[in-house]
Amino acid sequence: MKCVKVPLKQLNDTRINLMEKGLMSMEYRIKACDDFGYIPITEDIDDYTIVDIELEPMKKVPHNFSELLEDELTHDEIENLRTSFDTIGDVVILEIPENLESKKQIIGDAALEFTKRKAIYMKKSAIKGTTRVRDLEFLSGVDDSITIHKEHGARLKLDVRQVYFSPRLATERKRVMESVNDGERILDMFCGIGPYPIVIAKNKNVDITAVDINKYAIKYLDENIKLNKLKGNITTYCGDVREVSESFKTKFDRIIMNLPGLAYTFLDVSVDLIEDGGIINYYEFSDSYETGIKRLENACSKAGKQAEIINCRKVKSTSPGEWHMAIDGKINS
Ligand SMILES: C[S@@+](CC[C@H](N)C(=O)[O-])C[C@H]1O[C@@H](n2cnc3c(N)ncnc32)[C@H](O)[C@@H]1O
Repeated sequence: MKCVKVPLKQLNDTRINLMEKGLMSMEYRIKACDDFGYIPITEDIDDYTIVDIELEPMKKVPHNFSELLEDELTHDEIENLRTSFDTIGDVVILEIPENLESKKQIIGDAALEFTKRKAIYMKKSAIKGTTRVRDLEFLSGVDDSITIHKEHGARLKLDVRQVYFSPRLATERKRVMESVNDGERILDMFCGIGPYPIVIAKNKNVDITAVDINKYAIKYLDENIKLNKLKGNITTYCGDVREVSESFKTKFDRIIMNLPGLAYTFLDVSVDLIEDGGIINYYEFSDSYETGIKRLENACSKAGKQAEIINCRKVKSTSPGEWHMAIDGKINS
């Protein structure tokens, strides 16, 4: 390697001078030996003693996920992986396409190094079944799927292997929370570990009834109620909301229905339980708002009520052309 040879006393000044002129090579380490310093250079320079000696190459420290994987994957493959990251507390869940499964360990280790979280899991199935949980395979770090996720100042404890939770709904939950008034009686029909109830009750003085069929979801919601300082009150029920709700003595000012694939099959229950002038926050997987609006309107008209649609929005993309849609309806007699 071509180097400038200078007495050790001049090493620092020479190094700065060469760096400023863009003549110092950053690929190799400077060497000091026998009262002389050797600075690697990119081209021959007059006014200095130039020698050719062996220098140690610089160890390349990867700065990001792309650099960690650039020898293994293409730029597009890395970008696709990066957008699949779901960070839940100190756990990361990622989606590895079938053609990259043979490299899952390298990808998992890179994700661990890049994110500095506790555990990396890969998705092994779609979200499925009544409880909306997916299979996960542990890839890297410590195989501990229990974590505490922070969202809008709330602490949400959960086991990613046993319950549904999506950090991608945080903005939607905040939006719903901001539309809630103090004093509301709210029913969350499919509450999971309670992100809606906890975020709402942390900020508003409300009375929330939260139902889920998954016993683990209710176990974590009960813990989350203790974990957070709440302004409002939350009462939990474990079971099928169609059956559990038969015992409810009051109507509700707001009903949250975040079970997008099947919520429409429970619209008869929510339309029956909503107070006159109350709001149903209804969710649906669809390519257009029309399907959800029609379903909500039909359920109301069957019960002799009317739905006034006050807001519709796309919460997140689920597949090309399909969205997790939110429809807010004010239900009047
Ligand atoms: C898509 S998750 C939403 C959970 C939560 N609202 C959230 O945003 O994280 C739907 C939840 O509905 C629950 N569920 C499904 N069918 C139910 C039923 N018939 N009665 C009550 N809960 C039900 C599942 O266990 C699951 O936790």
